[in-house]
Amino acid sequence: MCGIVGIVGTEFKIDELVDDLQKLEYRGYDSAGIAYVQNGIIHITKTLGRIKNLKEKIKPVNSYVGIAHTRWATHGAPNDINAHPHTDCTGKIAIVHNGIIENYVELKEFLKENGHKFKSDTDTEVIAHLIEEYFEGDLYKAVLKAVNELKGAYAIAVMHADFPDLLVAARKGSPLVLGKAKDRLILASDVTPIIKYTKDVVFLEEGDIAVLKDGEYKITDSNGNILIRKVYHIEWDEAAAEKSGYKHFMIKEIFEEPEAIESALVGRITKEGPSLNELKEIDLENIEKIKLVACGTSYHAALVFKYFVEKYADIDIEVDVASEFRYRNINIDDRTLVIAISQSGETADTLESVRIVKKKGAKVVAISNVVGSTITRESDITVYMNAGPEIGVAATKTYVNQLVVLYLLGMNILRIKGIWNNELNRDFEFLKSSPGFFREVLQNLNIEDFASYYKNYNHFMYIGRGINYPTALEGALKLKEISYINATAYPAGELKHGPIALLDPTFPVFAIAPQGYLYEKIKSNIEESKARRARIVAVTNEGNKDLLKIVDDLIYVPKAPDDMYPLIMSPVIQMFAYLIADMRGYDPDKPRNLAKSVTVE
Ligand code: M6R
Repeated sequence: MCGIVGIVGTEFKIDELVDDLQKLEYRGYDSAGIAYVQNGIIHITKTLGRIKNLKEKIKPVNSYVGIAHTRWATHGAPNDINAHPHTDCTGKIAIVHNGIIENYVELKEFLKENGHKFKSDTDTEVIAHLIEEYFEGDLYKAVLKAVNELKGAYAIAVMHADFPDLLVAARKGSPLVLGKAKDRLILASDVTPIIKYTKDVVFLEEGDIAVLKDGEYKITDSNGNILIRKVYHIEWDEAAAEKSGYKHFMIKEIFEEPEAIESALVGRITKEGPSLNELKEIDLENIEKIKLVACGTSYHAALVFKYFVEKYADIDIEVDVASEFRYRNINIDDRTLVIAISQSGETADTLESVRIVKKKGAKVVAISNVVGSTITRESDITVYMNAGPEIGVAATKTYVNQLVVLYLLGMNILRIKGIWNNELNRDFEFLKSSPGFFREVLQNLNIEDFASYYKNYNHFMYIGRGINYPTALEGALKLKEISYINATAYPAGELKHGPIALLDPTFPVFAIAPQGYLYEKIKSNIEESKARRARIVAVTNEGNKDLLKIVDDLIYVPKAPDDMYPLIMSPVIQMFAYLIADMRGYDPDKPRNLAKSVTVE
């Protein structure tokens, strides 16, 4: 997803701006560019490809103001011309933009009729010309007028050649954060480039316009009324966002899982049992329906919640991918709770789903990793997963923490409804000890040989049953998104209804097969697959010798309560995918065509 950085203040080296932009690389991009003012002229350098290419192109100069951008193409092909920043006809106004302008065709027509000449195929360039159209000596006023005509989503940063001490920014639908440091004001798409300057940040809200000048920022609404926005203190330090000696962020983040879980549990374990203070205002006792909405990995976490809670309570639980949910007619009543899960807190489809159900009067609980992100601000309550920054595009420790928080949430609901038994007690005890179990798994997970063998296959079938089916889905997603192997997942009982036709010696099966309540069932499905001469790798619990006779490769995790296998098996499927991607020569941190934060529909 596009990334924006802007700096205005005392003189700085242009390289610093590019270094700051580099902190947003993890969001995914296809091109990058910067603009700065020198001697009253805007200079722009843009390039297709990596930021390191941009670094090679820039001159060693200083400026007082600059904007930089990583682009993830939506309108117009990824190339040097379509890369941001974009300028107006005079070349005096430069802009970077994240989002999509839905009415850009109409606006472009109008601007063309007024004599504006366009250089790129982007929707963004329209904004530069629109600001030019309204510019009468005051950049803020021109931006204000222009954004009032935009339909769609935007976060923009704008500068003008005649005002080297000024940046104007605006947001609607795409995130933008401000920080005030000693020698500069900095704005960015998220806090990562800002924390080296200051840990106190302001998240612009929908419709906000900010003026950054003379070491101060002023925020107004779209009518020009001054607004006061809360300053958030961010705990993450820069080191937390570095690789700490690991080859990739993804592997570092997998190894951070035990600490991440500890952070998710802090303050949420009481003598009475699991307790999420955040939920105090919700009448959990009378909740009869729960609707979970999420995308990708977060959706898989939601499915685990459904299997877990419905096992114990007669609550009607529905899980949907947000891109479907938002276009359905969702029935909400005062006994319905909506849970929106998004590690980034910015996923466009999930955000829109939140807006839709809120309009219908639903209470929304967000589960997110990003403090102050849009979904958290628009939901009634947020339960943070506290996983720390996740830089690798593939969700790993945030998936684990989503599960932890969802187990806590489920247990909390069940306890408040008066549903508690020995099985739940065992789950709770396991959850509390899970950081230790994770350390054990990560220490003993020597699967390089398996990975080295399986890396040569072009297809993979993941299977699971019951609460272990979402693990199959997540395993397949991890493998396909970073290793580009065609991995698919099925509830194992579905194999014989079609997918088993695919199986042969070239199509291995990855079975999620702990000795839980559906063990005998999945064992039969493994046998069926074996009969088609598919090679089988399975993950099961320690002490299970049964599968040794059937499968080709077996991976063990500690024995756990049935409900807890999705948690304890997560590092296995993640590590398997990571090793294969790395061995195939791909960079697991930056998978092709993917972005960390999907802020467009
Ligand atoms: O930030 P979110 O949790 O809302 O993101 C949802 C998906 O885009 C995300 O989980 C995606 O599937 C990742 N590539 C998974 O590794």
